[in-house]
Amino acid sequence: MPLASATAPGKIILFGEHAVVYNRPAVAIPVHQVQARALVAPDLTAPSGRVWIEAPDIQLSADLATLPTGDPLKIAVEGVREYLKLSALPAARLQVRSTIPVAAGLGSGAAVSVAVIRALAAFLGSPLPDDAVCALAYRVEQRLHGTPSGIDNTVVTYARPICFQRGQPFALFPVARELTFVIADTGIKSSTAAAVGAVREAWKKEPARYEQIFDEVATIVMDARLALESGSTVELGRLMNANHQLLKELDVSSPELDRLVQAAQDGGAAGAKLSGGGRGGNMIALVEPERSNYLAARLSNAGAVRTLVTHLPRW
Ligand code: PMV
Repeated sequence: MPLASATAPGKIILFGEHAVVYNRPAVAIPVHQVQARALVAPDLTAPSGRVWIEAPDIQLSADLATLPTGDPLKIAVEGVREYLKLSALPAARLQVRSTIPVAAGLGSGAAVSVAVIRALAAFLGSPLPDDAVCALAYRVEQRLHGTPSGIDNTVVTYARPICFQRGQPFALFPVARELTFVIADTGIKSSTAAAVGAVREAWKKEPARYEQIFDEVATIVMDARLALESGSTVELGRLMNANHQLLKELDVSSPELDRLVQAAQDGGAAGAKLSGGGRGGNMIALVEPERSNYLAARLSNAGAVRTLVTHLPRW
């Protein structure tokens, strides 16, 4: 069996996080500057059925069989085996590497799952269609995040900007012009599951108020999709700022995120907002390409521990 490999990009949510959990639309884009890579090779010296996993980024080197049932890599591998209706796997070594920062809203978990699922299926001689890859990666997300919307595994699988709404087919849509974003990390590790849980508790207490905020987010998301399709950066920036205000109302921002968003707005960004689960993790700013390095430096001065300039190509 020949060696097989696959990569998957990071991702970032541009509009609509949290409201997407409540069946409103959201827009996410791939971030190609960072990626996960999986490589599967036959292990001629090992007994049949043994899959040895090496993930040096998380100091993991182990026999798959010894990993706990809930381990994400194990769920991904077992998912492929079950999908292909195999009773056992041939002896193999699976190497996983990733340059995507962990727990920072950049989709590292989904990207690792997608890369592993694709590489393993290819190694087994049965490359999977995208919808199967996406569904298998979603199973891992469920295990990790409880009630994920499914946006991460979808954007990472298709590696294109998507408009995603739970329970509906997602939409790929055109993007009229190349856009440049600066992503800046507060350095505060934050659990998406905890933030989603806190929003749910607040929603239970004040459902009408929260539903109203989610509706306002939904309007922003649909307007943002139109702005992306028409290439209106000014409008996109305005919508990012408006989305950030609503995320503050949902109580998922933090002083550090607000400081970076303010620094971006003061530094000439067209717009800025937190991205993902919030309460830490990343923010994203839309900027003219020639100002991106200046803005990245400014965000570092304002406390960002890491910045990333990413270009979304025309689609
Ligand atoms: O923190 P991230 O980028 O994985 O995004 C979480 C997005 C939420 O809407 C808060 C949760 C979800 O499952 O969609």
